[in-house]
Amino acid sequence: MVFNLGLKIKISDGQWMIFRISFHPPKNNGQQKKNENPSLSSINQKKLNHLHFFLNFAPMSRKMKNKVIQNLRIERIASEGKCVGHYEEKVVFVQNVAPGDLVDVRITRGKSSFMEGEAIFFHEYSKDRVEPFCQHFGTCGGCKWQHINYDLQKTYKRQQVVDQFQRIGKLPIPEVMPIIGSANTQYYRNKLDFTFSNNRWLTKEEIASEATFERSALGFHIPKMFDKIVDIEHCYLQGNISNEVRNSLRNFALENHLSFYDIRNQVGLLRNLIIRSTSTGESMVIVQFGADDAEGIEKVMQHLNGAFPQITALLYIINLKKNETFNDLDVVTFSGKDYIEEEMEGLKFRIGPKSFYQTNSDQAYELYKVTRDFADLQGDEVVYDLYTGTGTIANFVAKKAKQVIGIEYVEDAIADAKLNAKVNGLDNTLFYAGDMKDMLNEEFIAKHAAPDVIITDPPRVGMHEDVVKMLLQLAAPKIVYVSCNPATQARDVALLGEKYQVDKIQPVDMFPQTYHVENVVLLTLKP
Ligand SMILES: C[S@@+](CC[C@H](N)C(=O)[O-])C[C@H]1O[C@@H](n2cnc3c(N)ncnc32)[C@H](O)[C@@H]1O
Repeated sequence: MVFNLGLKIKISDGQWMIFRISFHPPKNNGQQKKNENPSLSSINQKKLNHLHFFLNFAPMSRKMKNKVIQNLRIERIASEGKCVGHYEEKVVFVQNVAPGDLVDVRITRGKSSFMEGEAIFFHEYSKDRVEPFCQHFGTCGGCKWQHINYDLQKTYKRQQVVDQFQRIGKLPIPEVMPIIGSANTQYYRNKLDFTFSNNRWLTKEEIASEATFERSALGFHIPKMFDKIVDIEHCYLQGNISNEVRNSLRNFALENHLSFYDIRNQVGLLRNLIIRSTSTGESMVIVQFGADDAEGIEKVMQHLNGAFPQITALLYIINLKKNETFNDLDVVTFSGKDYIEEEMEGLKFRIGPKSFYQTNSDQAYELYKVTRDFADLQGDEVVYDLYTGTGTIANFVAKKAKQVIGIEYVEDAIADAKLNAKVNGLDNTLFYAGDMKDMLNEEFIAKHAAPDVIITDPPRVGMHEDVVKMLLQLAAPKIVYVSCNPATQARDVALLGEKYQVDKIQPVDMFPQTYHVENVVLLTLKP
């Protein structure tokens, strides 16, 4: 039985706030039920059931915060992987649920047009759920879709592309092709970036136990919390020696009382760990130190060097800045080479510590094949490869083009791109370093031949509007637009719609277990 009580309180002259206090009996007398949230312990679930007594104590104004909505059916996945239900004609975004789940949701944010909330009780589970395989699932923000079967993940990713192009692009588009799935849905990444912290994220069980715990951590940021790190014991994203190196370094640091970084006070020796690997078996390990402590640095690097002779590039950086970016810092080679080398179709790609390389090597190959197919080069074309990174796409298409010109703002990446072309025996490529919006100007075009095909692969933010304007001015017959963010891609394509039509749209899954999707679009000049 539910009791409701009305309460009207005067908060200022002429302003009244109306409260409703609902009393719900705890479900199942607080005992854990079969269909409780699998990510909550029975203790916490019991507590949550009791919370029903006071959580519905919420003002009946626009501020819905803490209100509990009962029996909300999760209908679908919207942009950025958020699950969606509807309550009184308002959209409710809910985390860590799956389409088909029937849940009670506590509202964490209420706006006039939408609400956000967290599931506190599961009445029914979606039939599309699968058991998450990772012990860190639910805390770590890395693979948020582990509980959704892979076929459905692919369906939603493709749907995201359709939605973004319909909602933002608002252009006539052809049927979006079926997504190209990833053969490997675990251990598919070639790069991971771990953070050291003196502020380890504690689980609800640990907090409830009131015991004291080791607070040093080496792992990933908790979503939206810059200073909280979940300590990772095993990560299913990267194979090779990734888990061994991370765990060994953490243990060594703890045994030797080396300090883990304190981000609030900006002190501590161990700051960040990057592990990169290639399909050819090479690995690069980069340790960022937050203090210029020669003895401590030597200890750490000697440990890694001794314990992991298979590391082919062992590097470190002293970073005394406020942020972890290191494009402007010196990278010291402790042992081995200062790069690793990836291979694709017999082409070699040298990757330096500051250079971008697609993080799923197998799927990068699929992505590049689609890009090359869409470009449909006949051998006599001038191709611009914008945002070329280490010139991977440029190298990949060069044999089928008259000339390829790559532009990228990381100078070291451009140095690698030039070397890659040389190593691969390609003499029809040119590479330039600089910001795209400054580089791609009339002077640049006058100096080089105008492009017949433009391949563009910008970062998540998409292209600067000056770059889009320049593309419209250039009016190359064909643009192949590769993107890891269909929302910004759809925005740019809408602007290009002034002169271009969309001929083909091919999503590629580079990031299984996440909502991220890569997408390739072929644009041709309107007749
Ligand atoms: C998504 S990556 C693509 C790299 C490359 N096409 C590949 O497949 O490996 C985007 C690249 O754009 C570069 N970049 C980002 N902003 C830029 C800018 N404003 N001007 C030039 N390059 C930029 C980044 O350094 C990165 O290498």
